[in-house]
Amino acid sequence: MSNAAADIAQQKRLAGEAAVRYVEDDAIVGVGTGSTVAYFIDALAAHKHRIQGAVSSSEQSSAQLQRHGIPVLDLNAVGKLALYVDGADECDPHRRLIKGGGAALTREKIVAEASEKFVCIIDASKRVDILGKFPLPIEVVPMARSLVGREIARRGGQPVWRDGVVTDNGNWIIDVHGWQITDPLTLERELNQIPGVVSVGLFARRPADVVLIGDQLMS
Ligand code: A5P
Repeated sequence: MSNAAADIAQQKRLAGEAAVRYVEDDAIVGVGTGSTVAYFIDALAAHKHRIQGAVSSSEQSSAQLQRHGIPVLDLNAVGKLALYVDGADECDPHRRLIKGGGAALTREKIVAEASEKFVCIIDASKRVDILGKFPLPIEVVPMARSLVGREIARRGGQPVWRDGVVTDNGNWIIDVHGWQITDPLTLERELNQIPGVVSVGLFARRPADVVLIGDQLMS
């Protein structure tokens, strides 16, 4: 591993471990998806006896939680969550995010929406001034792929089908290249109006509440 890659892995680990301090006794914790969250789940395992369990945003995270003996609960059975911990692909100064690099954006959005506090854990490479260098993931119903692609092209984006990837919900992902997202709230709202769009990997309407870059709070 190069020095830069080792530094990023170290920041992800520190962020995952630091997020455990937001976990309160008896909590049901919302858990995101990705390599940074994997560190959080490993750290959470040491606290499993003081929490009720977790609501997971992906099959991948559910499997890791279960390997640690942390109960995975159904969101419908638990209602509002106090805390959601998840990574991101990009984060702007207003804590607005691009997510979905791991194709888990829809369930991540649902769990984030159901949570009082969203703690986002990232390494410094994810911090940007303007969102959009990372291609924006959009989950679509398969039959709407071309239609949604044309709507994106009409708005100046370059849609690329993530061929071979099927989401946990049985849908497909389009990654949009070439957008400088200066107004993420409006773009999120507009894209959500296109028939066939299941969800958009922009977290602007529901941004993170706290961002940890490594073990440091983003100011
Ligand atoms: C999963 O769909 C994503 O939203 C992840 O949260 C994001 O890709 C961050 O992943 P890493 O922690 O692996 O960088």
